[in-house]
Amino acid sequence: MIERSRLLPRPPRLLAIASGKGGVGKTWLAISLAQALAAQRVRVLLVDADVGLANVDVQLGLDPKRDLSALLRGEPIGACITPLPDLGFDVVAGRSGSGLLAGADETTGERIITALAAPLPYDLAILDLGAGIERLQRHLAASADTLLVLTTDEPTALTDAYACLKLATLDNPNGDRRIVVNFASSRSAGERTASILQKSCARFLGTTPPLAGIIRRDPRVPDAIRRQQAFLTRHPTSDAARDVEALAAALAPVPA
Ligand SMILES: Nc1ncnc2c1ncn2[C@@H]1O[C@H](COP(=O)(O)OP(=O)(O)OP(=O)(O)O)[C@@H](O)[C@H]1O
Ligand SMILES: [Mg+2]
Repeated sequence: MIERSRLLPRPPRLLAIASGKGGVGKTWLAISLAQALAAQRVRVLLVDADVGLANVDVQLGLDPKRDLSALLRGEPIGACITPLPDLGFDVVAGRSGSGLLAGADETTGERIITALAAPLPYDLAILDLGAGIERLQRHLAASADTLLVLTTDEPTALTDAYACLKLATLDNPNGDRRIVVNFASSRSAGERTASILQKSCARFLGTTPPLAGIIRRDPRVPDAIRRQQAFLTRHPTSDAARDVEALAAALAPVPA
């Protein structure tokens, strides 16, 4: 899916992470995946597209001086970017002390997509979407080259993940949509969860999104978030870290 380290700047590919339901781990996964892909030499720009209620800066304990509000003022995307050299990727924060980013709609989404459609020194932009399936999330999900829909085994998460997949199928019938199961008690439990969602998609949407990865429930995830440290830095050998790395490898296979 991801072509790495191209010599001439081109627009990055867009990978959006959505779920519909809140609190299933989108922001944590977006950050961890950015770090895992960066370790595989993918040049990553992480965009906090949970505009106004952004959490990337909070989870990483950042106090960014730049954020998406510069883009809304008409400045180039470069004016929004904070490099994170210790983590190996750059970030566009989505929070603004001025409140300028509250009430973002698809116009904001279109500005983000247009800014990312320019030649940039990144292979991939990861968009951490907010909860819900309103206009902004829907627009960004439909515009992404690849949409990862995150779910857990709870019926509410499965229902909302299905709603995301349904809208994305309507908006972009030939799009690349994949499922990621989080909070799995085991790999086999994660496979069973994915299969429930896949069966609904096959039956009602006529399409079966592939399973991109399974992330196990791991108590070290909330530990890292409480300490506002990147998970792969704090717990690099944990179960969930291995699962994120496997997902990253599946998205950007290391050439033989
Ligand atoms: N694999 C996991 N194991 C244990 N806890 C996890 C796991 N993934 C996420 N969490 C916990 O889930 C909570 C929610 O994570 P996060 O904020 O990333 O979710 P979100 O989907 O981005 O939420 P929102 O919809 O509010 O943006 C965090 O407290 C985190 O510690
Ligand atoms: Mg979030």
